[in-house]
Amino acid sequence: MDLASPPFDPRALRDAFGCFATGVTIVTGRAADGSRVGLTANSFTSVSLDPPLLLFCPANNASALPVLRETGRFAVNVLSADSRHVSDRFASKGVDRFAETEWEEWDGLPVLADAKAAFACTLHADHDGGDHRIIVGRIERIGFAPERESLLYLNGRYRRVHDDA
Ligand SMILES: Cc1cc2nc3c(=O)[nH]c(=O)nc-3n(C[C@H](O)[C@H](O)[C@H](O)COP(=O)(O)O)c2cc1C
Repeated sequence: MDLASPPFDPRALRDAFGCFATGVTIVTGRAADGSRVGLTANSFTSVSLDPPLLLFCPANNASALPVLRETGRFAVNVLSADSRHVSDRFASKGVDRFAETEWEEWDGLPVLADAKAAFACTLHADHDGGDHRIIVGRIERIGFAPERESLLYLNGRYRRVHDDA
């Protein structure tokens, strides 16, 4: 095992974080002028059943963050295995992130038609998280399709589940 102490090389810290396998989500919102915003985020975590809460951590300078804060609403879309291109698109600059993918509307929030799960939220809390924010959403509506294959992210790469059981 590689060992390191502060101050950490950001690459090493990223690589250490990357040892934790996650899924991949697209967090979306709709601005007051009607435009859609969104970003790829794997910092999603379930938080609470009662009340129903989740969290994700956008960078302080994420372009979608002001819209999520001002409108107090966002959706978390859990990607299925065939949506790597959607993940890449929502992590890219200077592209139409919503192009070439089918979107539904949940009370104005963009929801990916073939997501594995989706959570429509109101903003519950917005905490300091260093160079990121810890955004806690109160879940107002869910949709889920457990039979769809999962998209995983591990050691900086997309993966599929290989379940030999
Ligand atoms: C798999 C994956 C996971 C990511 N997770 C996060 C995340 O949890 N939080 C974050 O701020 N950025 C995350 N990013 C990076 C953002 O999607 C990317 O920086 C995006 O361009 C930010 O939006 P902006 O350019 O509109 O500010 C992730 C990117 C990828 C490919």
